[in-house]
Amino acid sequence: MTDPRKEHDAEPSTHFGYQSVPESRKAEKVAEVFHSVAAKYDLMNDLLSGGMHRLWKRFTIELSGARHGNRILDIAGGTGDLARQFSRIVGPSGQVVLADINASMLKVGRDRLLDKGVAGNIEFVQADAEKLPFPDNHFDVVTIAFGLRNVTHKDQAIRSMLRVLKPGGRLLVLEFSKPSSALLSKAYDAYSFNVMPLVGKLVTKDAESYRYLAESIRMHPDQETLKGMMSEAGFENVTYHNMTGGIVALHRGIKP
Ligand SMILES: C[S@@+](CC[C@H](N)C(=O)[O-])C[C@H]1O[C@@H](n2cnc3c(N)ncnc32)[C@H](O)[C@@H]1O
Repeated sequence: MTDPRKEHDAEPSTHFGYQSVPESRKAEKVAEVFHSVAAKYDLMNDLLSGGMHRLWKRFTIELSGARHGNRILDIAGGTGDLARQFSRIVGPSGQVVLADINASMLKVGRDRLLDKGVAGNIEFVQADAEKLPFPDNHFDVVTIAFGLRNVTHKDQAIRSMLRVLKPGGRLLVLEFSKPSSALLSKAYDAYSFNVMPLVGKLVTKDAESYRYLAESIRMHPDQETLKGMMSEAGFENVTYHNMTGGIVALHRGIKP
């Protein structure tokens, strides 16, 4: 028989892909994944998406409405695809902060952007999306691309993003989502659970991380659920755009 006191004291669990883990362990397991894949992250992104991630990111930048002189935060910014474009758009009078919880991803991002001559208006900060170390009402735009599904307390992270945005500021969440047709969903499942881990194994010698990628996508809230979470947190005019048949969705909300 279970001891009722133990049940009461048990730590809440959450999902890490299809595994159930104590909440306090998820961040370290996610960290292992990104330490492992950091060096080959960009190559794998191009291989697995057939280059499509560039189009998804381009649309994110368009919809952000970023302007010269803006202050922009890219959370879970990784190797800096969005931050690089934002740095160009905001110019010398603007500021871009690339924040990521993972030191390996930040290092690859910083080195890569410096190699490309991106400097001057960009800062790199190691930070957790759930507890953003920035003042209230500070940024014109906050983005998080393919990052939210890795966060343990998504509600807390969304509230933290709302806090650091200026009134009228925009949050853009680019993330894998739910394909809109059953046929596409079936083909995508076959691809995700067979091809992705195999390519991961061949290129990074790490099939597990790419199995986690496939599983974490299935566990992430679908389009309508995420829209509800953003509205619930306090965002206004929350809308989303499906891309590639809903394999990816871009949500946008405005801080009132
Ligand atoms: C799939 S990568 C996306 C990188 C980049 N945004 C892109 O689109 O190419 C996910 C990133 O989320 C970061 N991450 C995971 N959990 C996080 C958290 N709680 N706070 C901030 N970053 C986090 C990881 O370290 C990783 O760099």
